[in-house]
Amino acid sequence: MTRPVRVELANAAYEVVIGPGCLGEVGERLAEVLPVGRAALVTDEVVAKLHALTVGASLIEAGFDAVDLQVPAGEASKSWARAGELLETLARLRLERTDPLIAVGGGVIGDLVGFAAAVYLRGVPFVQVPTTLLAMVDSSVGGKTGLDLAAGKNLAGAFKQPALVIADVDVLATLPITEWRSGLAEVAKTAVLDGEELLAWLEARASSLAQGPTADVEELVARCVAFKAGVVSRDERESEERECLNYGHTLGHAIEKVAGYGTIAHGLAVAEGMRFAARIAVDVAGADVAFVRRQDRLLDGLGLGVLEVDLAPEALLEAMHSDKKARSGVVRMVLADAPGSWRCVPVDDGVMRAHLQQWAATKRTEER
Ligand SMILES: NC(=O)c1ccc[n+]([C@@H]2O[C@H](COP(=O)([O-])OP(=O)(O)OC[C@H]3O[C@@H](n4cnc5c(N)ncnc54)[C@H](O)[C@@H]3O)[C@@H](O)[C@H]2O)c1
Repeated sequence: MTRPVRVELANAAYEVVIGPGCLGEVGERLAEVLPVGRAALVTDEVVAKLHALTVGASLIEAGFDAVDLQVPAGEASKSWARAGELLETLARLRLERTDPLIAVGGGVIGDLVGFAAAVYLRGVPFVQVPTTLLAMVDSSVGGKTGLDLAAGKNLAGAFKQPALVIADVDVLATLPITEWRSGLAEVAKTAVLDGEELLAWLEARASSLAQGPTADVEELVARCVAFKAGVVSRDERESEERECLNYGHTLGHAIEKVAGYGTIAHGLAVAEGMRFAARIAVDVAGADVAFVRRQDRLLDGLGLGVLEVDLAPEALLEAMHSDKKARSGVVRMVLADAPGSWRCVPVDDGVMRAHLQQWAATKRTEER
């Protein structure tokens, strides 16, 4: 039994299929939306050993002639160099304009392969088969693809909507606990943005979810995807509402960059960024301290404790200036002041520096 969520866009629509066991149905479901022919299955070296064989077999069974391609696992693969190698390989294999790229893996594979699908031959069809919680609840839906540049995270990219997303929740059983919790950070972000109902639902299940996938995982993924599908369908190109999805990401991306890409899992950096944003929201957006405490309790409950890092405030501030939301040199942050209520607010360097210094000081004293 699967739960489909439809993403409705101005010029396209696609289905996100969520359920146990649907990895073996990729070929047959793909054949329903695209012509059967050649395809490139792209995965990372970890997922290749665990789950990609099932996808490959289903493609062959459905009549696809699939080539298997692998890249190293980890954030370092979201690079210009790796994207270039992938594009050269596709060209050498003479993949044609109607041949889909199938991304099987976490957010790194989805972002890299989606970018390649956007630019190879000026665009070929693209399918997402997310295998991490983070990719299922967030990155596989909505069509943002990206590469990291030395100056900042996701600074190169393209919008490229998938033709289909297939999320088999059974594959989450093999996910290391740190990666599972990293995904829970995007779930917590979604709950704060969505509002009281989802937030309370998540709070009630936080301590069991902190230990790994539970019987609620399918519903969890479906609820998060439904929220994201709604946001993306109303604002596909992030001109306004879609900016909310950056909640926690201003400091989060800066932490990832300053610590060195791949050192700290994306979601763990986002969780820290949510704690930071909530404190700034008290200062500049009228948020109640009770809301900060409530969010802290949720993150603690999900196993997303305060991040132990020692990073220089000035380096983080500089990294924030490369954030895509900055305008006229001023950093803009998504600030939530209550469940379901947020704004994207300019935060001047003086306020940001003071908060970063306070944040860094709590790391040294371990008080918070
Ligand atoms: N495009 C978007 O809208 C969007 C949204 C959020 C995040 N992102 C991006 O997503 C990336 C993070 O994605 P991620 O957290 O999935 O990281 P990831 O893709 O690096 O995966 C994390 C690790 O888990 C392994 N793995 C994947 N599936 C597995 C499974 N089922 N069992 C065991 N191991 C498995 C991978 O090999 C990797 O080592 C970041 O680069 C972030 O910028 C993009």
